[in-house]
Amino acid sequence: MLDPSDANYDEASVPDYVLPDPLVLPDGSSVSDPETWQRIRRPQILALFEEHVYGRSPGRPDGLAWEVTSCDADALRGAATRKEVTIWFAGRQGPHMDLLIYLPNDRSEPPPLFLGLNFYGNHSIHPDPGITLSDQWMRPNPQQGVEDHRATEASRGAGAHAWAVERILERGYGLATAYCGDLDPDFDDGFRNGVHRLYPTPANVDRPDNAWGTISAWAWGLSRAMDYLETDGDVDPRQVIAMGHSRLGKTALWAGAQDERFRLVISVQSGCGGAALSRRRIGETVAAINERFPHWFCRNFWRYNDQEDALPIDQHELLALIAPRGLYVSSAADDGWSDPRGEFLGALHADPVYRLLGTDGLAASEMPGLEQPISSTIGYHIRPGKHAVMPYDWERYMDWADVRLGRPAS
Ligand code: GCU
Repeated sequence: MLDPSDANYDEASVPDYVLPDPLVLPDGSSVSDPETWQRIRRPQILALFEEHVYGRSPGRPDGLAWEVTSCDADALRGAATRKEVTIWFAGRQGPHMDLLIYLPNDRSEPPPLFLGLNFYGNHSIHPDPGITLSDQWMRPNPQQGVEDHRATEASRGAGAHAWAVERILERGYGLATAYCGDLDPDFDDGFRNGVHRLYPTPANVDRPDNAWGTISAWAWGLSRAMDYLETDGDVDPRQVIAMGHSRLGKTALWAGAQDERFRLVISVQSGCGGAALSRRRIGETVAAINERFPHWFCRNFWRYNDQEDALPIDQHELLALIAPRGLYVSSAADDGWSDPRGEFLGALHADPVYRLLGTDGLAASEMPGLEQPISSTIGYHIRPGKHAVMPYDWERYMDWADVRLGRPAS
């Protein structure tokens, strides 16, 4: 099983490859106007990602319901209003997702809001004792205070380094987050738990090869959070920014590609199956990800293990599905497993679609140096350091979002 320590990181070994052109139709003709992109080509590419990569998701379930379970207008020493909302997927029983929302109290109108899933429960993103401790299954992780697959009091704030909560609020943004395991626990159980169990296939043995995997379930959850946010008068649903790190960055991209309600989308070191081009076969490859995480993608994606050139799409086309909405791709220099150059190239090769749709695309033709952010409709930066979400990253996302949303620099 190929893991980060024995992967190939040598740029010289990247094979020659030819990327599929998002602006060429199957009959060989070019897509030369926005209307043809939007009406014909975009749905074709979306269907290819459903069929070959992530699997096909259901829509909004009939039984969707929610309840605001707590609201404290004096949270974080008066800086924020904290709400907790339970979103039920099939009536008030069975799978549900707990959404934690912080809104800046210093606001005159409903603020824009970052929406992203977290890895270890809502209580992990901040030591705020008012956050309900998750009782869901967690991946083992002593540093996160997880014992016997459950969070403990020691888990509170254990992931706070990745969430610049105070800065987000100071800069006039809200933040909403939910635990990815509420939607689907991150292990391979044959899709018997999580939201997949609401949509069973016969005995779950004959799952179609294009049935949704875990990343699709997580992305579906972001859309269900959006269903709720559209009804919450305290946020501006036209200014919701989907963001996520790593596997949850792949998730944010897939959610943003499918659901055009997300105004902006931010990928943090999403790597293979995210922003990085699969055909480069450097760092994490399609075979490596499918072997280590057999539940993340649909079964059809396995056909491309060591067969990347046979993929009918590549990841730049996932990014192009977000056009003309703002997209920010960010990399970390020491994170070769995520293939920073492949992430930049994914963004670069999405640029023609962004330009066809009348935006400035990506304002760069070469990969920029460290800490030289690009702030066009497709934004990009690479910073020194490892696989993580750092305060530097958040500041750049907010600088860029200020521009994209027409807000005064904060
Ligand atoms: C593993 C996996 C990556 C993923 C990362 C993460 O390293 O191989 O694809 O992005 O975990 O989610 O942190």
